[in-house]
Amino acid sequence: MTTEAELFAAVGRLAVRLLHSERADPVRPTWPAAEVEGALGLSLPVQGRPAEEVLEAVASLLEAAPAMAGPSFWNQLFGGRDLVATAADMLAAVANHSLYTYKAAGPLVVVEELVLGRMAALAGFAGGEGTFCPGGSVSNLCAVVVARGEAIAQGREDGVDGRACRMYVSKEAHYSLRKAAMVAGLGRNGCHDIACDAEGRMDPAALDAALTADRLAGLTPVVVVATAGTTVRGAFDPIQAIADVCTRHSVWLHVDAAFGGSMLLSAQTRGLLAGVERADSLTWDAHKVLGVPLLCSALLLRRRGQLAAQLGETADYLFQADDEALDPGTRALQCGRRDDALKLWALWQHHGDAGLAARVEALRAQALRLAELARAHPRLKLAEPPPSLTVCLRTPGADAAAVCDLLAAERRHLIGHGMIAGERIVRVAIVDHDHDDAALRALIDDIDDATLRLAGGPPRTWRRQDRTTGVMS
Ligand SMILES: Cc1ncc(COP(=O)(O)O)c(C=O)c1O
Repeated sequence: MTTEAELFAAVGRLAVRLLHSERADPVRPTWPAAEVEGALGLSLPVQGRPAEEVLEAVASLLEAAPAMAGPSFWNQLFGGRDLVATAADMLAAVANHSLYTYKAAGPLVVVEELVLGRMAALAGFAGGEGTFCPGGSVSNLCAVVVARGEAIAQGREDGVDGRACRMYVSKEAHYSLRKAAMVAGLGRNGCHDIACDAEGRMDPAALDAALTADRLAGLTPVVVVATAGTTVRGAFDPIQAIADVCTRHSVWLHVDAAFGGSMLLSAQTRGLLAGVERADSLTWDAHKVLGVPLLCSALLLRRRGQLAAQLGETADYLFQADDEALDPGTRALQCGRRDDALKLWALWQHHGDAGLAARVEALRAQALRLAELARAHPRLKLAEPPPSLTVCLRTPGADAAAVCDLLAAERRHLIGHGMIAGERIVRVAIVDHDHDDAALRALIDDIDDATLRLAGGPPRTWRRQDRTTGVMS
């Protein structure tokens, strides 16, 4: 029989083993999905197994999965890890609070408010409010729901005629916004794509024209979403000019800074979000860029009271405080809420404002360094100067997707690819604080090597099915 102390000591040892294993073997072999259950012994048993055996199985399973926090992972917009934030999250799981009421979570509610207050102040929303949501997609959804309620009297009570409403995003915006339009009752067709300039930033004149035309057609604009850090190019929409348009048309402005919000932490980079203080709401994911474990996404609002007005419900079995301000559940979409604030609070305690600013600056320096290496390279091409923390590379003579596939198959790097102006490029996400110059050089060498070996080969064919029409393209 394992004691609690033995069990958690074993957890500590296994956590350290995972760290070693992802460094020693950062790109693991890919398991064919059909073989996983049998090969890894995943079937659920009739009789239980001893705790230490189960923990060993959990660790082995984690070692068989892609090492998304490992040193060769450049694929998604999060990577690496902050050890203190990770350890804090492990402890939070032990205590297992739900942050819906002060009665349930006590001081942890104060911590959440404190962290949200600091993030709001950095966005220029002093005196505003916020809530942690399970991911940037849900933060965006909540913003659209709140904006809808503010735009349409009785919208929250009676619902809306989606065909009469519109929201506006750039062509390069994240797909979660189209989902938000669907869930909020505007329909996917209610989400209007606004053209971008050559750098992938929303064109404010095109937005102005779309709003004018829709108003003339008797439609109700509900929300404009500017993106601060687009998913592929890391571009920042011109918030100041977009805010001017929104003011002119009296439309809610939401800024999706899921990726780029952390740029607010440094004086060197916060100018990328110039004008953000004029927005009505902002999504900011701390699990991207800062090394905080998933999920840690803040939705921030410039004015107080709108979250409860649009999302609040009474439930006398749960919300029993005289002061609703103490119950964050009245400002959230969920009932049970995992404590996503504590790990960010721990990160902030450990690094302070100065340390967090230095982290963001170091990542930006890494992105610029990788761009410099690509610019000086005899074969690879930098697709464009990196606006923030993604670096997009052309692989002349070889299909960018095939280059990424080869690097994964040879277990060298996990990198993603995307499109810029109709051309597929390798997109390197610079989000791991532990990468040094040698890592960046090795990455460039490996991409070049794969490109050279593939040059002249056929491009990989991309076929995908449109979920609405079923048409393959
Ligand atoms: C610009 C942008 N917004 C929103 C999201 C969604 O964030 P999450 O994965 O936390 O739902 C992403 C994810 O990459 C993103 O890049």
